[in-house]
Amino acid sequence: MIPSQRHLFDIPEDIAYLNCAYLGPLSHAVVAAGREASGRKSRPWEIGSEDFFTETEVARALFAGLINAGDDDVAIVPAASYGVSVAARNLPLAKGQTVVVLAEQFPSNVYAWRESANGAGARVIAVPRPEHGDLTRAVLDSVDERTAVVALPHCHWADGALLDLETIGRRCRELGAGLVLDVTQSAGVMPLDVKRIQPDFLVAACYKWLLGPYSIGFLYVAPHRQDGKPIEFNWRARLGSENFSGLVNYEDSYLPGAHRFDVGECANFQTMPAIIAALRQIRDWGVPAIAQTLAARNAGIAERAAALGLESLGAERRAGHFLGLRFPREIPGGLLEELRQAGVYVSVRGDSLRITPHLYNDDADVDRLMHALQQAVN
Ligand SMILES: Cc1ncc(COP(=O)(O)O)c(C=O)c1O
Repeated sequence: MIPSQRHLFDIPEDIAYLNCAYLGPLSHAVVAAGREASGRKSRPWEIGSEDFFTETEVARALFAGLINAGDDDVAIVPAASYGVSVAARNLPLAKGQTVVVLAEQFPSNVYAWRESANGAGARVIAVPRPEHGDLTRAVLDSVDERTAVVALPHCHWADGALLDLETIGRRCRELGAGLVLDVTQSAGVMPLDVKRIQPDFLVAACYKWLLGPYSIGFLYVAPHRQDGKPIEFNWRARLGSENFSGLVNYEDSYLPGAHRFDVGECANFQTMPAIIAALRQIRDWGVPAIAQTLAARNAGIAERAAALGLESLGAERRAGHFLGLRFPREIPGGLLEELRQAGVYVSVRGDSLRITPHLYNDDADVDRLMHALQQAVN
């Protein structure tokens, strides 16, 4: 169990920030790295051509380490939606085929499939939340020989409902269907091993649970998909691009591995040192220890919320770092504003009050939340 890491963050005592699934805060170290990086761009004569290729590789390797991928299996992307667009370009659909997603899944892993399905005469099937509560079983019941792609998260972004991706991955391989994962709401806080799950593509934006800056993410591309087509064609992704004086000797071959899918200007001098600092912090804490600590934090909140009549998915059905509280009737109007007035920051997603702590939270935050909820339900 990791003790509260609040001292590493700029969060005042009277703020209970329990909304990491919305935006993760930057730590002091990440802010410092970003400041220094911005300063560096004010002295461009200090930035050499090799700098376009060094920090990117450090960041790539750090993300690869979180998901047990090879360093070169990871591309640098600006958003989850970009990564899913790469996947959709490389997993073409045919008439009559299906793409399976969850009902009310986050749109970044939905719109590209709707677009692709519309063009091909294929269908996107949204799996509703089943009465029996087992989302994995519901997904397995929705895939068949027509399924071309299964596009999922590790846990639902509204209430953390959990999927068994290893089992789903196995079924996808039996059917010959592609598996495309958006793990923006779980990377860095839930252990995940691409060697076990074997997705075709997996993407995560960095600005939530990875506690990094906005506009950067990582795309894992399985080795057997690495000869695919990027969605844009930038000079840096080509073989020999480190030789700046030779760039107009146009080159048809790409850099090895997943590098061909890197977004243009991926060597972002202002952002890259900050994301490296953020990923190093996650690595040093360790994902299993983060997961265990956040699960215990949420278990405590769930127990106290239950005493107020607020229900949540049982620990076996949801990701430990997520808690979606359901009110006996609907969520009281003005609740979020009331909580905000009390210094409590959470979200409403679907019919859940979404509580998403990270290691900067402490017991006082939980007391503040519970006190404010008690006032609201009375
Ligand atoms: C599951 C999930 N994926 C992705 C994102 C962000 O998507 P993008 O990086 O495409 O803006 C969010 C934001 O809330 C999310 O909840």
